[in-house]
Amino acid sequence: MDRNLALEFVRVTEFASLACAQFTGLGDADGADQAAVDAMRKAFDSIDIDGTVVIGEGERDEAPMLYIGEKVGQKNEHSPKVDIALDPLEGTNLCAYGGVGAISVIAIAEQGKFLHAPDTYMDKIAVGPKAKGVICLKLSVEDNISAISKALNKPVGDITVVILERDRHKDLIARVRKMGARIHLIGDGDVSSAIATCWENSGIDVMMGTGGAPEGVITAAALKCLGGDFQGRLNFRNEDEKIRAQKMGVTDLDKIYERDELAQGDVMFCATGVTDGPFLKGVKTLPGRRASTQSVVMRSKTKTIRHIDAEHDLEFKPIHK
Ligand code: FBP
Repeated sequence: MDRNLALEFVRVTEFASLACAQFTGLGDADGADQAAVDAMRKAFDSIDIDGTVVIGEGERDEAPMLYIGEKVGQKNEHSPKVDIALDPLEGTNLCAYGGVGAISVIAIAEQGKFLHAPDTYMDKIAVGPKAKGVICLKLSVEDNISAISKALNKPVGDITVVILERDRHKDLIARVRKMGARIHLIGDGDVSSAIATCWENSGIDVMMGTGGAPEGVITAAALKCLGGDFQGRLNFRNEDEKIRAQKMGVTDLDKIYERDELAQGDVMFCATGVTDGPFLKGVKTLPGRRASTQSVVMRSKTKTIRHIDAEHDLEFKPIHK
């Protein structure tokens, strides 16, 4: 994949973030999401790729834009064929209600390299580079935390586990508490928190629990660029979801996917903060219809991590609420 594409893609997440950030705290989740989707869809039109959305806003019949299978990009005969996993607004409620860590995100791989994850749940575990190779979803919560504590050379009491605050995680939370590890509960946004495990000084050592499967693929791409580790196992809510997964090519419903099975080959990852979070600042308004954004652009091939701070003059950008 052409490395110059990475810097093109960051314009896509910047544009989506600027659009939905206008809805920060207004309580309008649908409006925020729609603004991000519209802006991202539009921004793709100026990029020279033959892109296919493989992780997107949903199936074609339920998502009018950025649906799975939708073609994006300004395609010509020489355009690279790429698959795209995207979430224009990861953490919709975080944006709508002014929470921490909403981002706009895309991951890019060569054709056929992302798992076509169905819109179901996924059991996940994510750690940074120092604990790579020691985690396993087959192990108990306790064994995973002990292994991470050893790898990070920190007592269990100094390990911080991020968990989505959901009823389904009551048992997980109780077990982590019993071990004496610290817990950081989040309302939404497990992609940001998983990435934060790779950020030194984020204070987050591991992300555990069950969240969206599409987000799991995006997380795997990010952690591949950062040298962290991730495992995921699809977690179905009903028979219908299993049938949909099989239609999408999943043969072993209980399989534990390694990071590099979810995101194979060389991948690129771009994210722009919408609200302030554990690794990116959110959009800030500046005097005179200007705004600033903070983004990260990464490539797994070279492991380069670029932090991009940008100032935008909104008079020159067609962003409208
Ligand atoms: P959205 O961006 O679709 O709002 O998803 C936010 C999120 O918190 C993800 O980060 C997480 O993987 C998933 O939702 C958890 O799903 P649920 O809210 O159903 O527990």
